Amino acid sequence: MEKGILVAFEGIDGAGKTTQVHLLGKALKDAGENVIVSKEPTDGAWGQKIRKSASTGRLPLEDELEAFIQDRKEHIENLIAPNLAEGRIVILDRYFYSTVSYQGSRGADFEEVEKNMKEFAPVPDMVFLLDIDPETSLKRIAELRKEIPNQFEKLETLTSVRKVFNAIEKTDDEIWKLDGKKSIELIHNTIKNLLLDNVLHKKRCAKDYQCQDFINCSFRLSEECDWYKLNKKLRPNRDSFTETAFIQD
Ligand code: ADP
Ligand code: TYD
Repeated sequence: MEKGILVAFEGIDGAGKTTQVHLLGKALKDAGENVIVSKEPTDGAWGQKIRKSASTGRLPLEDELEAFIQDRKEHIENLIAPNLAEGRIVILDRYFYSTVSYQGSRGADFEEVEKNMKEFAPVPDMVFLLDIDPETSLKRIAELRKEIPNQFEKLETLTSVRKVFNAIEKTDDEIWKLDGKKSIELIHNTIKNLLLDNVLHKKRCAKDYQCQDFINCSFRLSEECDWYKLNKKLRPNRDSFTETAFIQD
């Protein structure tokens, strides 16, 4: 089985993605995993063009869509695909679900956009959608990040973007919705929990059929199981993980 793991974070501006991406990246590195953290839009030429439009005025929809697609194609070719092939964990701060939701809410057919994306972009093993109301997110941007909201960060825009995120969460099994208003620590613990019980178990457990025998497994007893080692480091006290930020609706 391929050992590479792709995890993406999504949500409206100010939802807490960057905060969680960094916490997770550090936790997995400290636990011995080979991790690459990246973001979209990237710092490449297309990404710079997009970022400029965020401060000066958004591009027409077709041009904006094209810019995000070209930026993503370069990102996949230069960073995402090669690192996944090396068996690393790639963590993304935004990915194609942002195109579906932001450009979709501007008038592009979001089901069509998603279909096109999935034709060229690797589908993540898990996507964490940090859900938050736009009023709180704009407050965070202004008060905590001390920034003036840019052209993407408008109440009306974020309200319709959030609607599309929540609509695709219902149809896409890889999307896990979390309550972005819970504490940073609870969200982080929920993410570690969900990863350990899902993709990490699938790809790091030493047994092909995935061990359910947490007591007598020979790989566990000889400490050869990567999942067992990760579990011990990321979730030393399973009982303290009872509260969750996961929203199952
Ligand atoms: P995003 O990357 O989604 O735009 P950030 O991670 O930059 O969001 O978070 C926006 C602001 O909100 C930052 O100042 C951050 O410290 C703060 N923040 C992030 N997560 C939470 C949370 N769960 N509760 C309260 N404040 C948060
Ligand atoms: P953002 O994550 O805020 O980047 P940075 O903090 O580095 O400037 O992304 C900029 C904006 O681009 C954000 O409001 C969301 C939007 N966006 C899209 O509209 N479509 C996309 O495909 C992506 C990746 C982002």
